[in-house]
This record gives sequence, C-alpha cells and structure tokens, in this order.
Amino acid sequence: MVQISEVKGNSRENRTAAHTHIKGLGLRSDGTAEKSAAGFIGQTAAREACGVVVDLIRAKKMAGRAVLLAGGPGTGKTALALAVSQELGTKVPFCPIVGSEIYSTEVKKTEALMENFRRAIGLRVRETKEVYEGEVTELTPEESENPLGGYGRTISHLLIGLKSYRGTKKLRLDPSIYEAIQKERVTVGDVIYIEANTGAVKRVGRSDAYATEFDLEAEEYVPIPKGDVHKKKEIVQDVTLHDLDVANARPQGGQDIMSMMGQLMKPKKTEITDKLRQEINKVVNRYIDQGVAELVPGVLFIDEVHMLDIECFTYLNRALESTISPIVILASNRGKCTIRGTEDIVAAHGVPPDLLARLLIIPTNAYDPEEVKMIIRLRARTENLSLSEAALEKISEHGVRISLRYALQLLTPASILSRVNGRKEIDVSDVAECEDLFIDARRSANIVSHADTFIS
Ligand SMILES: Nc1ncnc2c1ncn2[C@@H]1O[C@H](COP(=O)(O)OP(=O)(O)O)[C@@H](O)[C@H]1O
Ligand SMILES: [Mg+2]
Repeated sequence: MVQISEVKGNSRENRTAAHTHIKGLGLRSDGTAEKSAAGFIGQTAAREACGVVVDLIRAKKMAGRAVLLAGGPGTGKTALALAVSQELGTKVPFCPIVGSEIYSTEVKKTEALMENFRRAIGLRVRETKEVYEGEVTELTPEESENPLGGYGRTISHLLIGLKSYRGTKKLRLDPSIYEAIQKERVTVGDVIYIEANTGAVKRVGRSDAYATEFDLEAEEYVPIPKGDVHKKKEIVQDVTLHDLDVANARPQGGQDIMSMMGQLMKPKKTEITDKLRQEINKVVNRYIDQGVAELVPGVLFIDEVHMLDIECFTYLNRALESTISPIVILASNRGKCTIRGTEDIVAAHGVPPDLLARLLIIPTNAYDPEEVKMIIRLRARTENLSLSEAALEKISEHGVRISLRYALQLLTPASILSRVNGRKEIDVSDVAECEDLFIDARRSANIVSHADTFIS
C-alpha cells in the first residue's frame, strides 16, 4: 500500500517568493496580451507565445518537445514559466531548478534530474472516506495515573466535541490521535476532520463563526461543515510523484522529532531507489486505471540550461519521450557556447542540436523605463511597501541601468532603512543609503579589480 496520507506538499515554495504578484499570463480570450494584467507588465510577445504553448499543452501536442526562453537576466523568464503552470490550473506543480544544482557529490546527476522530473508531476487522488468532521467545540485530554507508578500521568483518552450543520457528536479517542491533533495545532473553533479508519487528522481551517475584523495572521475561514458529523466524504489530495517517493522511502512514522533530527544530521538522499520508483509507478498506474487518481503534469523549469552536460541532455531527450513527463521549460541568457562535457562542440545556448531541434524558442527582451517603473510599483504594492514618487524614480533608474532584479532587491532593505529612520514611506535618501550598502555586480567587480588590497 502506498503511503499518501502523510505526505507534505512541496516545501520549496520560497523559490517563487519573488513572483507572488504573478497570477497568470494576462491574455485576452483571443490570445493577445494586455499591456498589464495578471501581474504581468509588458513582454507581450513572449507572453502571447507562452499562451500558444499553453494551448499546445491542452491539445496534447507538446509531447517530445520543450520550450526555451532566451533572454537577459531579469527579463521575466522564471515569471513566464511560473505563469504557464498557473494557466494550466491551480495545484499544477511548478518545479524551478538551476542547471548547476544537479551536480552533487552524493547523487548522480541523472538521478537528481529524475528527482526533479518527479517533483514536477502531480497526482490528484480522490478517495471517499469515512470521516468525523465538524467545528471543534471541546478538546479535553483525560489523564490517568501512570500504570507503571511514579509521579507521571499519562493521557488515557481524548474527549473531543464536533459540531456540524446537522448535529453534534462527542468522541472519545485514542491518545495517539491527540498527537496528530497537536501536530496540526488544532484548537477549539477550528474545523477538522478525522479519518475513521486511520485516525489521521486534518485541519480544514478556522470556523467562520470566529472570524474577526482584525486578523493579523493569514487564516483561512471555512463554514461549518454540511451534513452530519459522521459521514462519507470525498477527499482530494494533490501530491507529486516525488512526495510519494519520499513518503514511502522513509521508515513509517518518520515524522517524529527523533527521526527528524536523524534526517537533519545525516540526510540520506539515496534512499529512493529505482525499484521503489517502479513500485510507486505501478500503484499510481493502478489508481489511474481505477479512476481513483489522475495525473497532473506540471512544469519543470531548468534555468541556466548551459550548465547541463551532454549526459544530462541525452537523459532529457529520453525523458521527454516518456509517457509520464512534465512540461519542460528551459532558460538561457547565453548565446553560443561550448556544450558542457564535450571538448569543443559549440552550439546555441550550449544545447546540443538534437535537443535544439525539439525546442520552441521564445525570446524575452529588456524592459523600457516605463515598464520597469510599473513593475517596481506593482512589486512594492504586493510587498505592502509605500514609497515616494522620487524613490520610485531612483529605484527605476537602477532597474534600467543595472537590472530589474537588482532594483527589486533594493525594495526590502530600503523599507527597513526607512523604518529605522522613522518614516512610513521609502524616501530617496533610503534608496541612496541602500546603494552604498549593497552594490551591484558590476560595481563590485570594478572595485575588486582596482583595489590591489583584495589580491594578496
Ligand atoms: N513583465 C513582468 N511583469 C511583472 N513582473 C516581472 C516581469 N518580468 C519580470 N518580473 C519580475 O522581476 C523579477 C525578475 O524576473 P525573473 O523572472 O526572475 O527574470 P529572469 O528569470 O529572466 O532572470 C521577478 O521578481 C519577476 O517576478
Ligand atoms: Mg530566473
């Protein structure tokens, strides 16, 4: 039996933190791009081309092919790839990696590539389960004398009250469920369900009866569940094939502190064997045949693709042919360069001709000053920062002269400085102070090459 109920979602979300303002490609129904929509500003031709790619994917005409986004740094390549995954639907996995990331001393590079392929393939599992669901009205652990004597007391039972639209129920549960409840940080007023067979506890959200006007924490409010407390419920879970690999590679019950510590001290990256993957694939295929699960191919984004070597490219070619494959989007800011792992074969973007032949290549262009300004303003709004018009001007100048990325990166430290200086709004002087504290790459290189003191 494949373990699916304990798996955690993709914990690499922080990699997309800089793109939270992007909600999609922002295209009209005829496929043309609005100048500014869905968080995207400008880069209209590339967005329209990505829209065509989305259409091809939907029409299942992308098999064996991949996309290459070619353009300078900070021209929105990562943002475009993310938007493609968003256009394909919510819960479509997006797995961004950098070409160099697959080289490690522990894991073979093709193995690392395979792992990321599986991170980019989702599986939506639908199961009808017997559950107890409701708003928690009571949560009382019952203690008893420790049967072994001594001073300790142990929890013998957990009393829990659940309220649904049609009724209430009081349950007396095994102490093991108490641990699950603590792990999900359930408190009175939360809506939860408990799977009757496994005792797995899932916190759905906070009951909207407890919604207040002033809520600082991001909390999801949900209505009191319909129907009875005890019922059958269709549970939909979105996981990736990699989640399944991990959940089934680790020994059961591997979620407690001790085993977590063990993992921290000695990360075993080689636990997932080919045999295990094949086992998982078999079960997944059976689930799909039974109509219990459906595959959700996501997007694997490989930045700096010239960092891959010839062996990886061979693997990529083969993987693209496989029936279970994510959409592969490559990115490069190089022109012609030597293919890694060869003596002197020069090719466009450092990509071998046989793979190049499979690529749909989309160029991205530098932004004009007006666009840079709009993007910075949008990003500031997303991060809840206010800045004066002059500060926006100054940051935008950097965006044009150095790079959009550098300009966007100045926002957070500038806001901290403005607060330190007792201002609510980022001022030109804060930006100037930031420039002195954090220099861009070109200035940094200049300083190093002019100062002999650095070279000792
Ligand atoms: N056209 C755009 N509209 C809005 N935000 C953008 C746009 N292009 C880039 N960005 C944002 O600018 C930053 C840098 O873009 P990124 O996608 O990382 O560039 P690249 O991958 O080409 O180096 C990111 O925060 C991204 O979300
Ligand atoms: Mg990028």
